[in-house]
Amino acid sequence: MLRGMKRVGVGLLGCGTVGAAALALLAKPGLAERTGAALEVRRVLVRDPEKSRACDRALLTTDPEAVLGDPAIDVVVEVMGGEAAGPLVARALDLKKSVVTANKLLVAKSGRDLLERARRAHVDLAFEGAVGGGIPIVRTLREAFASDRVTRICGILNGTSNYVLTRMLEGGLDMAAAVREAQELGYAEADPSLDIDGHDAAHKLGILAMLAFGAEVPFGAVPVEGLRSVEPVDHRFAQRFGYRIKPLVVGRDHGDDVELRVHPALVPEKSVLANVSGALNAVLCEGEALGPCLVYGRGAGGLPTAVSVVSDVLDVARSIAAGAAGLGTGGIRFAARALRDPGRAEARYYLRFTVRDEPGVLARLAGQLGAERVSIEQLVQVGEEGRPPLEGGPATVVMLTHAAPAARVRAALAPAPFMLEPPRMLPVEDV
Ligand code: NAP
Ligand code: HSE
Repeated sequence: MLRGMKRVGVGLLGCGTVGAAALALLAKPGLAERTGAALEVRRVLVRDPEKSRACDRALLTTDPEAVLGDPAIDVVVEVMGGEAAGPLVARALDLKKSVVTANKLLVAKSGRDLLERARRAHVDLAFEGAVGGGIPIVRTLREAFASDRVTRICGILNGTSNYVLTRMLEGGLDMAAAVREAQELGYAEADPSLDIDGHDAAHKLGILAMLAFGAEVPFGAVPVEGLRSVEPVDHRFAQRFGYRIKPLVVGRDHGDDVELRVHPALVPEKSVLANVSGALNAVLCEGEALGPCLVYGRGAGGLPTAVSVVSDVLDVARSIAAGAAGLGTGGIRFAARALRDPGRAEARYYLRFTVRDEPGVLARLAGQLGAERVSIEQLVQVGEEGRPPLEGGPATVVMLTHAAPAARVRAALAPAPFMLEPPRMLPVEDV
């Protein structure tokens, strides 16, 4: 430590996958010189102090007040996760401690309240680790696009879902086995249905919409579809048409309203997003002035996320040392904006029907689509295991449509006696 350098006390709430990795990075030499402040980790809150962990046991506590009530702690790093962290973060801010968090659920649900508390207390609330693990997407939107207007964000923001789809396609695993692998690798949430059902990605999209479009997104307002209904056959047909299925988030600022959606979608196999595999994340942002900008990297896991967390700690410590705490957070502005009705989402669609191969079936399918003014772009029909169908037997009919609003496409999929299963519908995103 350099003589006369300001000391900044750090307390951690949580020391699991992300917290333990953050502690390891905070111990690296050279951070004080880069920051202008000497960081001192003073306390680490855990649930089970007996668990073996690579950290000084003397730092451990099971009492949140040992962190929040320590006047020498200036920065609270919340990496315990879940909603239980909310009251602790709120109290830390009210006590004029800056907070760094990787908790997307918390920021998506209570971001407005927490940012107001931070503003009132003239401290910072930093959350780079909450979106995209190690990729600097929060900084990119807040700083790189500060003078631009972001019109579109499209990307992959859930590492577990991307990992699961990748392993299902390339490793032939079923979903349960792929989820188990993602859990073992430390990518999944404590409750992995948050990943698989798309909610984690929706929380992250809500946070990005705040930064990109200045939109306050009510919790739960983002239309979400998860991965459970994507079957191996959908991957095969997507490939046959020249696409890959990816777990996408899409946000567009239409001026009058903001369109937000989370769902698996077909992306052209030559697009950058089609080639983002495993737990990698990527976000394509489009600015009016800048045009496209891609942020890409490891979107989940302890060390990548800890890189974001520690970089926030350094930023916040730098502001404290400079007497400018709260300045960055005070600059985040957002307001209520109208959210576009999901039925108006205009896209091309992938449709898969399981039908009985009988005279007139294709005409009736085309008739249902035509009645809703949905136009077919491409179509294939196959029987079992990809062979030509036997007359009167089951057949799979797969189509790509021209662009149409989701509500009209959905209306065209009304059940009919010749359908042996409910039809499957996925948007095609041309990125
Ligand atoms: P984790 O491995 O489950 O670690 C949670 C830590 O918090 C553990 O040390 C646990 O203590 C402690 N904890 C939990 N509840 C507590 C309570 N009520 N009182 C005291 N301590 C408590 O979780 P994680 O994967 O590190 O995730 C932490 C946060 O980062 C979450 O918000 C998550 O969404 C977010 N995040 C995770 C990733 C990732 O890839 N893992 C990426 C980005 C963001 P014990 O160790 O004693 O059980
Ligand atoms: N469970 C999350 C994911 C961790 O898989 O993306 C990173 O936020």
